Amino acid sequence: MTTTTFDLSAVKLQHGTFYTAVWGCQMNVYDGERISDLLCASGLQQLATPQGADVIVLITCAVRAKAEDKVFNQLLSWRHQGIINDHTIIALGGCVGAELAQKIIELSPDVNIVFGPRTAHRLPQLIRKFKTEGVPQIAVEADALEKFDALPEQGARGVSAFVTIMEGCSNKCSYCIVPYTRGEEESRPLESIIAEVQGHIAHGVKEIHLLGQNVNSYRGLDENGHTVHFSTLLYAVAAVEGVERIRFTTSNPMEFTDDIIEAIADLPLIANHVHIPVQSGSDRILQLMRRHYRADDYRHLIAKIRAVRPNIHVSSDFIVGFPRETDEDFAHTMQLARDIGFDQSFSFIYSKRPGTPAALMDDPTPLEVKKERLYQLQALLEESAATIAKSLDGTVQEVLVEGTSRKNSAELKARASSNHIVVFEGSPELIGQMVRVKITQVMAHTLKGELVHA
Ligand code: SAH
Ligand code: SF4
Ligand code: F3S
Repeated sequence: MTTTTFDLSAVKLQHGTFYTAVWGCQMNVYDGERISDLLCASGLQQLATPQGADVIVLITCAVRAKAEDKVFNQLLSWRHQGIINDHTIIALGGCVGAELAQKIIELSPDVNIVFGPRTAHRLPQLIRKFKTEGVPQIAVEADALEKFDALPEQGARGVSAFVTIMEGCSNKCSYCIVPYTRGEEESRPLESIIAEVQGHIAHGVKEIHLLGQNVNSYRGLDENGHTVHFSTLLYAVAAVEGVERIRFTTSNPMEFTDDIIEAIADLPLIANHVHIPVQSGSDRILQLMRRHYRADDYRHLIAKIRAVRPNIHVSSDFIVGFPRETDEDFAHTMQLARDIGFDQSFSFIYSKRPGTPAALMDDPTPLEVKKERLYQLQALLEESAATIAKSLDGTVQEVLVEGTSRKNSAELKARASSNHIVVFEGSPELIGQMVRVKITQVMAHTLKGELVHA
């Protein structure tokens, strides 16, 4: 592996303050954290609010039209409130493709710098260039893995840390903009991921959350130049001394191979939760979506995972009202949801994304019908998640203590292996520890419990 050392001298001596705002999925959260570390290393001071910041970094999500609008609405509102003025440097990054980058600069006079998921490491240079030249800067194209080598070592992350293991996505599901904003899929070398994991452990992290658009199609090189699969990476991360729990998001049903299921069986460190987006329960719609599986393949996959971990929690993503989805197609989605018994899941109405193949499809279903379907699905998903939460009442859960509860400082906030938030009374000394808690009360999104003394 070639490691490019971060050249601080190129960007040092930047003065002033910055604020970052992040929208979108965990991959953007990871990028946001690394950008904050980078700007701090380049001499800027991070602020907790945008008020008075010299540089505002916005990390945007483009997955649905509403998500994309959020960043521009935020800018308008800040301008309106006088939080930003003509001297504030606005850098917009995240899931921005090349075409969109040009449009943003043309249409949004507030934005001075546009960068993409692959060019986050160039931000200090872009800021400096904008300051000296005074003209908008665009940098969205770069090698997929360049940023991982170029970014400085990471700061402290609490007890759980995200580690991005691959960039981009090559699946090109017909509705999805991600392959156009994050580019073709490329996996990081095994060694660089393990080095990052070790760095986190040295900072007190106990849980590693591996990230990618399809973690199960990870194909990274090991130190001998051999390609290794996701299951090998799981064993390698589990072998790092100090790692107490491993999560991974997102797994695609398409390549959830038996070796990954074996790793789940072999490694108790792997959390008792998998997030595997199904999108639809109709084979016809799945085909139009260019998801290369059928609803029964999904059922079969979950059955295989449950055969090795009978009580594993399964969550999913759904798109409702995809072009040409009929009542019958939707009924298949409802049936699948009933069959699987999903834990806390995400569901959204299909959003037309410019440049994707589905955007060209006729879409005769009225929005009202789509909204009604979403309402029905969400009611079913909520009921299913509530039943699962209730089944945890009275059980003893091993939880990782993340901090004190925001609502009550005498209480600690922890995360169970199932991904449920658990609050219980306890001393802050327990933060960072894995402890056993008996669940005594089940609330909408949180479980309450009592510490079980060994
Ligand atoms: N790579 C992951 C999903 C990443 S995007 C996977 O394939 O499983 C996160 C979720 O956003 C998707 O699972 C999908 O449910 C939703 N999504 C993506 N494009 C969308 C669109 N055009 N309209 C509505 N929801 C969309
Ligand atoms: Fe989008 Fe499909 Fe890639 Fe997921 S697998 S990011 S839905 S193209
Ligand atoms: Fe959004 Fe990009 Fe994630 S488009 S969902 S932030 S990969």
